Amino acid sequence: MRIDIFTLFPGMFAPMSESIMKRACEKGLAEINIHNIRDYAKDPHLADDILYGGGAGMVLKPEPVMNALRAQGYQKGDTVIITSPAGRPFRQEDAAALSRERRIFMIAGHYEGLDQRVAELTGAAEYSIGDYVLTGGELPAMVMTDSIVRLLDGVLGDAASLEQESFNEGLLEYPQYTRPKEYEGMSVPEVLLCGDHKVIEEWRRKESLKRTWERRPDLLAKIPLSPEDKAELKGLEAVYHDKGNFYIALVHYPVLDPKGHTIATSVTNLDIHDIARLARTYGAKGYYIIQPGEEQKELVAHLIHYWTGGHGAKMNPDRKEALDHVAVVDSLEDACRKIEEREGAKPIMVGTSAKNRAGIIGYEELSLKMERDDHSYLLVFGTGHGLTDALLDTMDYILKPIEGRGEYNHLSVRSAVSIVVDRLIRE
Ligand SMILES: C[S@@+](CC[C@H](N)C(=O)[O-])C[C@H]1O[C@@H](n2cnc3c(N)ncnc32)[C@H](O)[C@@H]1O
Repeated sequence: MRIDIFTLFPGMFAPMSESIMKRACEKGLAEINIHNIRDYAKDPHLADDILYGGGAGMVLKPEPVMNALRAQGYQKGDTVIITSPAGRPFRQEDAAALSRERRIFMIAGHYEGLDQRVAELTGAAEYSIGDYVLTGGELPAMVMTDSIVRLLDGVLGDAASLEQESFNEGLLEYPQYTRPKEYEGMSVPEVLLCGDHKVIEEWRRKESLKRTWERRPDLLAKIPLSPEDKAELKGLEAVYHDKGNFYIALVHYPVLDPKGHTIATSVTNLDIHDIARLARTYGAKGYYIIQPGEEQKELVAHLIHYWTGGHGAKMNPDRKEALDHVAVVDSLEDACRKIEEREGAKPIMVGTSAKNRAGIIGYEELSLKMERDDHSYLLVFGTGHGLTDALLDTMDYILKPIEGRGEYNHLSVRSAVSIVVDRLIRE
């Protein structure tokens, strides 16, 4: 295979002449050529230029890049790769597909990038190596070249190592150990010393599943899983869900009215029942109704009593089970205090709002935190026109608003609670 890389900084490619890349070239399995784009510019200082339409930085001009490609024998239809943070994510399957090519032309952008017409003229695939911005495409070009070349037949001494590594079956690789057996008081897992390959394989598969589930749950959705794998994942979810420890608070004061004034709202029967049932179904440890109004509190207490101790409890024990977890308190601080008494630590407060604000947290990120954290979380929802800014400012996190398809966004609070909890507490 031959890879031609085009760059403004050929000196940055020194690492390509070390280790396995060096061996692959010495054995004649790969040929990696680095070309300086400046050599193909009319004036070597003018390989880049300012942006049309304005904006900071410089962009690589199309002619020196196209001249460089053509000088190295590029013809329409050849495989061209452009490194770009705006490209598709580069994955193991892309490396595998590219390793079957005879020749690859790879362009490393620099400064603000590369004139778009190069991608259009060559039909190049634009790849990103991750969601961050580097100063130039030299590191991405080396990363991709390395991942492609190591897959070529004969490059790695032991081909089996390719079969067993991360992403190969869509899972991350299991933890690995070598000698010594004991190191700083930590020993190698006993199972790896048992000599029974079948048992070791099973352990490795389980560890791979566990790692992937913890670190890259997105990968699990893409691969076929055996019934044993599924059982293992269910077990993991049970373990983590026991830790995923959360409460719900429904605030009636202080909340906003449509004009932005701070008000208190009245309780509604539907919110009490529906959120209590949801809370019980999804394993919330408690549901606090924040209502300082004396008559309102009595109303809730009366209602809860009917279903937990009165006639309703005998008629419908399932409803009793849900309403047993509901309490009405004067303020959010009271709810926090009660949780602190039970858990031994204050809960992490998560505010919700229908409006976007700076520093909001997404569902996946919060869900992972909740699963892995020993702390309890209190998910706080507002009635009326939502929680006041002053209250939101006291939260540890504010969750991304639920967005529908259009401008209209007026969910009932119980719908919002259902959607949020379902998104956070994965099945
Ligand atoms: C500073 S970056 C340009 C960023 C570009 N203006 C943007 O926001 O998408 C300069 C060059 O570095 C390379 N580069 C930077 N980050 C990259 C990444 N995550 N993956 C692939 N290439 C990257 C590309 O070749 C890019 O043209």
